[in-house]
Amino acid sequence: METKREHWGTRFGFIMAAAGSAVGLGNIWRFPYLTGANGGGAFILIYLGFIFLIGSTVMLAEFTVGRMTQKAAVGAYKSVSRNWTFAGVMGVLSAFLIMGFYPVVGGWATAYILKSVTGLLSDSAAIGDAFGAFISAPIQPLLWTVLFMLFNIFIVIRGVGKGIEMASKVLMPLLIILLLSVAGYGLTLPGAQEGIRFLFVPDFSAVTGNTFLSALGQAFFSLSLGMGCMVTYGSYLPKDSKLPSSAGVVTAMDTFFAILAGVAIFPALFAFGMEPAVGPGLVFVVVPQIFARMGFIGPVLSLVFFVALMIAALTSSVSLLEVVVAYLMDEKKWQRSKAVIATGLVMLVLCSLASLSLGIWSGWTIPGLGVGFFDFFDILTDKVFLAIGGLFLAVFAGFQLKKEDLYRELTNHGETTFPLFDAWYFLLKFIVPVAIGIVAIFGLLDIEQPVLMITGLVIIGLLALFSKKL
Ligand code: TRP
Repeated sequence: METKREHWGTRFGFIMAAAGSAVGLGNIWRFPYLTGANGGGAFILIYLGFIFLIGSTVMLAEFTVGRMTQKAAVGAYKSVSRNWTFAGVMGVLSAFLIMGFYPVVGGWATAYILKSVTGLLSDSAAIGDAFGAFISAPIQPLLWTVLFMLFNIFIVIRGVGKGIEMASKVLMPLLIILLLSVAGYGLTLPGAQEGIRFLFVPDFSAVTGNTFLSALGQAFFSLSLGMGCMVTYGSYLPKDSKLPSSAGVVTAMDTFFAILAGVAIFPALFAFGMEPAVGPGLVFVVVPQIFARMGFIGPVLSLVFFVALMIAALTSSVSLLEVVVAYLMDEKKWQRSKAVIATGLVMLVLCSLASLSLGIWSGWTIPGLGVGFFDFFDILTDKVFLAIGGLFLAVFAGFQLKKEDLYRELTNHGETTFPLFDAWYFLLKFIVPVAIGIVAIFGLLDIEQPVLMITGLVIIGLLALFSKKL
């Protein structure tokens, strides 16, 4: 028996859900540390270029493909041609891999909410060691990950409108307020201009081929592109909603949040004379250290910041969970509740591997690859699968789908206009694939983990050969 497809209740609800998916750890945890490690303004400039040229183009294509087919990641491709099934399956695989480490960091954020309240973050000198000890413990971080996954399961099990949309409508406005207050306070500190300069004055001396690859991977990651997530969300859109403006608003919101996170962190960081290039520990070590030096307002801001981080992570991880759930419901006719629980459990197993790889297994690496599980999941998706997934989607929409069909879908069958259609179509068909190709080649020449890249490509090849039945 075919049940009716779920849909978003309102346009506002959809935008909040899609922006909720886009705005996440990618903006508040990863964007600041990548910016810090890649020299600030120059990285941001390259990133913004990718967002507007490639990101917004692919986002609109994902919404369009999703609404046109009314199917999630795999079904959208498969309903057009079985030869393309593998590209959808790659998306589902990416969802599992990202959810193999994302909830681990989500768990840390949740734990840090409590730590802010109980005063564990008040001794600035001890914060770095405490973070190291916390994430490398075998059990404690896992319990926080389980808690974070339970929040996800609770939301996604309630469905598209009552679960994801409702949670996003409440949490996203709250997120803006929380981050604005932290950023606003940081800007009042003496010495804050130094941080603003770091963010907005480009210094190209730190730029390499790898910077471009990082910026491209980050653009896809941050906008939730390249794995069918926005296809899935687009498939829940009613036929009369406007696609181009939605893609524009979501892209703009995601960019706004990334910059806002930068402004929440760097002015304060420079005001206290700290190092920007510390890597993934930036928001869990340097940010609490900044707060610890602020006196009585510190713990309050710390609480606000980590609540914001957890909320941002949660509205994103539900979208990743939904990609797999929607696949199982569309293609395997599973019940939502069964799909959510089974998927959630598998993801928790992957998270356990990732979490342990930072602790008791930290010396061990996957044979031949030279990295542990956490890095494997992260690098494989961010540096290989997402950009290539985006490339496939652009080629699929540009060459497999008919131009007239795309035009009809984008203008709601002539109900609305889309003056930029030709420019968008050209970007999608030619510029996006070529740009991704070039960046991939330069990135490959300059990559730190060549074996890992090759492993990723082999996996894609195997999927292309064997995934027709899925
Ligand atoms: N965009 C989210 C972030 O920035 C993460 C995310 C959610 C994601 N869904 C995705 C990344 C789909 C890639 C693909 O944190």
